Amino acid sequence: MRKKRIGILFGMEDTFPWALVNAINAKGGDQVEAAPCEISFAKDDGVFGYDLVLDRISHEVPFYRTWLKCAAASGVKIVNNPFWWSADDKFFDNFVARAAGVAVPRTVLLPHKQYPPNTEAKSFRNMQWVNWEEVFNYLGWPIFMKPAYGGGWKDVYKVHDPQEFFAAYDQTRDLTMMAQEAIEFDSYYRCYVLGRKRVRIMMYDPKQPHHLRYVANYHTPPELEQRIHRDAVALCEGLGYDMNTVEFAVRDGIPYAIDFMNCAPDADLHSVGQENFDWMVNNMADTLIEIVTGGKPLELTGNWPSVLNTSKDPGQPLA
Ligand SMILES: Nc1ncnc2c1ncn2[C@@H]1O[C@H](COP(=O)(O)OP(=O)(O)OP(=O)(O)O)[C@@H](O)[C@H]1O
Ligand SMILES: [Mg+2]
Repeated sequence: MRKKRIGILFGMEDTFPWALVNAINAKGGDQVEAAPCEISFAKDDGVFGYDLVLDRISHEVPFYRTWLKCAAASGVKIVNNPFWWSADDKFFDNFVARAAGVAVPRTVLLPHKQYPPNTEAKSFRNMQWVNWEEVFNYLGWPIFMKPAYGGGWKDVYKVHDPQEFFAAYDQTRDLTMMAQEAIEFDSYYRCYVLGRKRVRIMMYDPKQPHHLRYVANYHTPPELEQRIHRDAVALCEGLGYDMNTVEFAVRDGIPYAIDFMNCAPDADLHSVGQENFDWMVNNMADTLIEIVTGGKPLELTGNWPSVLNTSKDPGQPLA
């Protein structure tokens, strides 16, 4: 039988892709081989030269996203699922989290501050004015404001009163913003979750500069560690991601999921450090080999359609 071929599709990152290619080739024996993906124009004939593509960059390159969707439709396994990644957002994911029994901060979705392109006042005749008092009472202070389609700490604000809130909101252009209860945390964890089962829980201090974030040291009781592990896997099963980082802020012993839609998570040696990097390379290689040699059929999303109660009375709150 011919070797299964894994292609790695990546952007500016320098350390992870090459180490991953080497690790897969070292482990793959005569069954699996890996190389950087080679892509040019694509014909609509459904012929692709890979059995699996690991996607680290299509969120920045729409051409790649379309290529990946067509590859998936032609029998290539894609990590992560380009269909669901295209549809996903952070506000929706709070619903997935709640259905999976994972605590999340109280959150509201806000209308755009400015008109998106090609719209004007008349485009918004369905919109009612926001009752800000109700928003602020629901969330309490301080509040985090961040994009529902975001990443890389861009357009994230922490605000302490209405004046700061509106000063920040005024800068958000036509982004889809959410406002969220701030979790004043005792400890903070960032977890790699691969293949929905391999979990690395890393102590993380988001208040430090990048190169010091992974040197945090928190007391982590075993029950907390087990809960984080369970919650991390449940989130990735819900969303169907095979490569993700999920972040938890712990307040009064309860881990609140803060950021769990990182479908091309940072895996650079210089930011995550040698031990985390080695774990990531090794476990990603095992995960991809497992997926490319396994028989899992195409999925459109994770398990949320069966976990969320989509036939509930819409007038009633979530259980
Ligand atoms: N509700 C919250 N309570 C407490 N801290 C928060 C909350 N939301 C965000 N933060 C802080 O802000 C940081 C950035 O927010 P978040 O992770 O949601 O955005 P991001 O753009 O996805 O960032 P990145 O991709 O760099 O992780 C978090 O690491 C955390 O420290
Ligand atoms: Mg984050």
